[in-house]
Amino acid sequence: MRTLIVAAMLIGVSSGVALAQDAAKGASVFKKCMPCHNIGPGATNKIGPELNGLDGRHSGSVPGYAYSEANKKSGIVWNKEMFEKYINDPRGVVPGTKMTFAGDQNKHEVEDLWAYVSQFDASGNVKK
Ligand code: HEC
Repeated sequence: MRTLIVAAMLIGVSSGVALAQDAAKGASVFKKCMPCHNIGPGATNKIGPELNGLDGRHSGSVPGYAYSEANKKSGIVWNKEMFEKYINDPRGVVPGTKMTFAGDQNKHEVEDLWAYVSQFDASGNVKK
């Protein structure tokens, strides 16, 4: 009986870890973004806009941030698919953007990055 309970606990723990790990890896990939972007509680605009609540957010919509016309007119609503395309090649997806990040073409890194970024709600708290 005790073995069964332990086994059940292990399964629960390992699936939890798999999810957490993607976001944790993404947190490390986010270091590439940190010179220009803040995310999480109290995040403010830097060289780029803060990235809280990005899932479902419209491009160019953070108050007080001076976006390029290109970004504002892109009509993007951020979701996993758009985010991945954009991070692969920012200037290809939004020609004329002032985000000078060259792009990250590593599929796993970008997926982990989305797992990390998309977990924050608009107030910068991790979604339940
Ligand atoms: C060298 C600075 C710089 C780096 C590094 C950078 N960004 Fe940006 N980012 C910007 C700027 C500037 C903008 C505003 C673009 C515009 O207005 O054209 C922007 C815009 C964005 C937007 C659009 C936000 C919106 O509200 O429309 C997203 C999403 C984004 N960046 C994600 C990232 C991620 C994720 C990384 C790391 C992989 C990253 N950026 C790295 C400067 C940077």
